[in-house]
Amino acid sequence: MRADLALVGFGNVGRRFARLLDEQRERLHQQHDLDCRIVGIATRRHGLAYNAVGLDGPNAAAFVENGGIVSELSGSQTLPSGATSLDVVRGLSTSEAPLRVVVESTTLDIAAGQPAIDHVVAALSAGCDVITANKGPAAFAYQDLRHRARDAGLSFLFEGAVMDGVPVFNLTRETMPVVNVLSFRGVVNSTTNHILTALEDGEDFGPALARMQIAGIAEADPTLDVDGWDAAAKAAALANVLLDARITPHDVIREGVGPANATPAREAKARGMRLRLVVEGKRGQTPSVKLRTLPGGDLLAGLRGTANALVLTTDLLGEIAICQLGGGLTQTAYALLSDLVTVRRRRAAQPGEQLRRSP
Ligand SMILES: NC(=O)c1ccc[n+]([C@@H]2O[C@H](COP(=O)([O-])OP(=O)(O)OC[C@H]3O[C@@H](n4cnc5c(N)ncnc54)[C@H](OP(=O)(O)O)[C@@H]3O)[C@@H](O)[C@H]2O)c1
Repeated sequence: MRADLALVGFGNVGRRFARLLDEQRERLHQQHDLDCRIVGIATRRHGLAYNAVGLDGPNAAAFVENGGIVSELSGSQTLPSGATSLDVVRGLSTSEAPLRVVVESTTLDIAAGQPAIDHVVAALSAGCDVITANKGPAAFAYQDLRHRARDAGLSFLFEGAVMDGVPVFNLTRETMPVVNVLSFRGVVNSTTNHILTALEDGEDFGPALARMQIAGIAEADPTLDVDGWDAAAKAAALANVLLDARITPHDVIREGVGPANATPAREAKARGMRLRLVVEGKRGQTPSVKLRTLPGGDLLAGLRGTANALVLTTDLLGEIAICQLGGGLTQTAYALLSDLVTVRRRRAAQPGEQLRRSP
């Protein structure tokens, strides 16, 4: 089945996704009957590109990394002056491909989750499924977007919003039927965990943060990581999705990490304990992001560097832990790839598709 894609956002994640799609083309075809074409790319300052018969994703990624502007890509049609990412979404909606998917990976906006929410709404209104690595939509508007997607018979998926491609939302949605999540507790921000590990090892704050920026793991605005906003957005998304909350990151009680945490981090380690930035949420209560001094035997204390973990307390499965021992751009791009396969599987499960596929 052909899937035409519009990539809204073509930064670290969008470009890695474009390459991963190409690398996994054969498996997607053989295992999932999925043949993908990137027909549109939209950025904020690097222009827009559209070609109804497809753009070369890896070539576009290399072009941008070498200083190119997306609108100057060979093969791109000329878009009207003043065209925006919403025009690229509208372009995708004219495709006759059976699957039309907007892949949203714009920058996290901590004020209101925009324009990512508008991108999701535009995609669903235009009859396109939407997958995103951006926390904003689930953190600020999950219930509304979920209902819009359901009413349109389309998907709104966001596995990359928490712990990259390691299944959190997929796991609870697909493989834990009937189970009620009662609370969560975790370390979900790689940049601050890397910094805290470096501080407890006697390193300085600045170089540890710089390493995360060079690796493309820190947010475009790294204060979102160190001030705890990224973790607060994840806590809000987790609470909205797993605990039926209706909150935004601004409701989350929040602390960050700074150079002043060097001494407490080293002292905690000397006592066999660890300083970690922990998100916590419980049904009916306000979630929090707080620095906690944890006993050495705590699962979260053992997380070093970019490792993340989430412990869910449930009614039927007791406590379960989901761990990611090393995250990075490939894992985030994989989250989008896995969401894409979910969109394909859902389409395969629809009655019309069953009929077409039956002998
Ligand atoms: N990096 C990670 O490891 C990671 C992990 C999990 C989730 N995420 C999430 O994934 C998203 C993307 O991260 P990233 O590292 O790829 O960020 P990035 O490198 O800063 O790229 C963001 C992209 O979004 C584009 N953009 C921003 N505002 C836009 C708008 N209004 N319309 C169209 N395009 C717009 C930017 O355009 P320009 O190129 O013109 O600036 C850029 O192409 C973020 O929401 C982030 O929180 C990232």
